[in-house]
Amino acid sequence: MSNANVKQYIAELLMPAIGGEIKEQAVMDLLEYPPDPQMGDLSLPCFKLSKTMRKAPQAIAEQLRQVIATGGLIARTEAVSGYLNFYFDKGRFAKAVLQDVLFGKKPYGSNELGRGKNVVIDYSSPNIAKPFHIGHLRSTVIGNALANIFRFSGYKVTGVNHLGDWGTQFGKLIVAYMRWGSEAQVKAEGVGELLRLYVKFHDEAEKDPSLEDEAREWFVRLEKNDERALKLWRWFIDISMREFGKIYDLLGVTFDSYAGESFYNDKMDTVIAELAEKGLLEEDQGAMLVRLDDYGMPPALMLKKDGGSLYHTRDVAAAIYRKQTYDFDQCIYVTDYAQNLHFQQWFKIVELMGYPWADKLVHVAFGRVSLEGVRLATRKGNVVMLEDLLKQAIAKTREIIESKNPHLPNKDEVARQVGVGAVIFNDLSMNRIKDIAFSWDEALNFDGETGPYVQYTHARACSVLRKAESDGELVIAHEAIAVEQLQDAEAQRVLKELYLFPERVEMAMRKYEPSVISRYLIDLSQSFNRFYHERPILLADQPVRTARLALVKAVQTVLKTGLNLIGLETPEKI
Ligand code: ARG
Repeated sequence: MSNANVKQYIAELLMPAIGGEIKEQAVMDLLEYPPDPQMGDLSLPCFKLSKTMRKAPQAIAEQLRQVIATGGLIARTEAVSGYLNFYFDKGRFAKAVLQDVLFGKKPYGSNELGRGKNVVIDYSSPNIAKPFHIGHLRSTVIGNALANIFRFSGYKVTGVNHLGDWGTQFGKLIVAYMRWGSEAQVKAEGVGELLRLYVKFHDEAEKDPSLEDEAREWFVRLEKNDERALKLWRWFIDISMREFGKIYDLLGVTFDSYAGESFYNDKMDTVIAELAEKGLLEEDQGAMLVRLDDYGMPPALMLKKDGGSLYHTRDVAAAIYRKQTYDFDQCIYVTDYAQNLHFQQWFKIVELMGYPWADKLVHVAFGRVSLEGVRLATRKGNVVMLEDLLKQAIAKTREIIESKNPHLPNKDEVARQVGVGAVIFNDLSMNRIKDIAFSWDEALNFDGETGPYVQYTHARACSVLRKAESDGELVIAHEAIAVEQLQDAEAQRVLKELYLFPERVEMAMRKYEPSVISRYLIDLSQSFNRFYHERPILLADQPVRTARLALVKAVQTVLKTGLNLIGLETPEKI
């Protein structure tokens, strides 16, 4: 066996004996990891095979047992109560895993499932002149992690920031700015001042409804490319992007495209015409909508009375454009679950338009984040509070470092990596659909299930390796690793976690769930820390020392890869 993909190896051996229509992947999916190692390292429940093989599960387990040769990686097998259990040879298992992690041809954990395929991921997507809120932060963090995970799975990824840069609100903002705003004020206060103007518009319009007409007029001018209107609009975008950019810089997140809603302005008529031609459009009091009663959904408004397009219309136009431009295998949208209906509606519309790729549109919804005990500056104007949150996380981490490790070099840099890492990891710590709370004590706890904990574990592994290196023990050649020295329970536990990494990457990708990786990293860190505390590494005699160092190196490699996948940096000293 050339690599550690034991499931595949076993499935291949079993296929001929199972017969019938069952695919190799299906057999691999049947294999499970028994919770108790007494019951084997891997186990095949034979109950589902009963139907096709027309035998009792126990008889199947016994029959299949015959085709598995033992003496190699699989030391022994047992057929018990309808399960076929496999017990690994511990030394060979260690050898196979370390070979893959340390000396494999491709980065360990990566796969080729997406080879030749494109995926578009629409994430972050804040609104111009509006606050970048905690939901946008979570979208940014999840979207960025997914982009990395898909890339690691061989896909060509295009990350799109679908900026909310169009709509009647810009007419209002222009009016408000011209009446009550000043260039200096906007320059000084940024998005905060734009928001204040927008709010003021609404207050004033209550007293004087003619302002609404004025705003509509200005929006029409904007739509007709009036120079003055365009200039202001561009400036609002500029002001906003400069602030959003600070958050992206802190997070280390980038995009391949910033084509926002306005990008589709000239593509709207075609969509409306196509909807009409396909008999999907219905007039309702001068507006145009698509009825979705047959699918248990309210109608989707596509064209306003005044001819303006809507969020739905823009999303349909954007999807068609993206299909043409990127020929995506999947187009993924990362937003708060409050937008579930919006996506269900327009995905259905694309389907009704007859596009066969409608089922390649994926809404990756996530839950809300509440900020428990977090005080953000209420300083007027600072509505991009997330920058404040990140900065506070950095400052608090800086304090922790100062008290725990005052002689650390690059304290500021490390504080940034760990502070930001804490916020990111918190966002990914649970299934994305769950609502989560952010609290300083939890997010920054170096002993909890946090980003800092995993980063610290990684730094610990680095430190062991550094010391070994300064003793002259450098890269460990595969043959030199005395794998039979890694049979103890702690080392075996670590090896099993390492073995699981590729499966977890694949699962995170299939489920659009970066938390699969964050939780995996916690498990790996915990098993490594147990090993570290129970087993001497640098003080062990040879050949144990080299074998254990190889294991440390493997853990360090996988922690680094995993953290980077979900968007965290990996300082070597903390
Ligand atoms: N701008 C929207 C908001 O802040 C999110 C856009 C999500 N992407 C999309 N293609 N609809 O709620």
